[in-house]
Amino acid sequence: QDGDAANGEKEFRKCKACHMIQSPDGEDIVKGGRTGPNLYGIVGREAASEEGFKYSDALIELREAGEVWTPEDLVGYMTDPNMFVQEKTGDDSARTKMTFKLNKNQEDVAAFLASHSPD
Ligand code: HEM
Repeated sequence: QDGDAANGEKEFRKCKACHMIQSPDGEDIVKGGRTGPNLYGIVGREAASEEGFKYSDALIELREAGEVWTPEDLVGYMTDPNMFVQEKTGDDSARTKMTFKLNKNQEDVAAFLASHSPD
């Protein structure tokens, strides 16, 4: 992946109003809000798979379609969450609960998230 993880860490400031990165042993890598799921290990994780988080039907549909997050798909999702799930599921009425769009440095953020995703 060609993103710059250090720059992605700075850009992740925009995400942490809603997302934390907390490892399974409870280490706060990034302290953040709980409106969105914990993004620890998101690269290689099945979509909509945090225990106990209330996902939208759209994201659950994405998981059922077999989605496992790659850096590329994370870039697509953060650029335009609704468009991404609509394209992936083929369902034009799909809507995710994530209303935020990131329009620059998406690859850097994906590289930063990958750096906190074990294998
Ligand atoms: C879901 C990334 C900013 C609220 C997600 C997911 C990812 C993600 C990868 C899917 C997680 C999974 O499948 O378990 C990001 C990134 C952000 C960002 C990289 C910054 C660039 C935000 C912000 C908010 C937010 C600012 C709140 C205003 C949510 C919510 C969900 C979600 C509510 C659940 C979506 C659903 O169930 O449809 N985010 N996010 N995110 N995010 Fe974000």
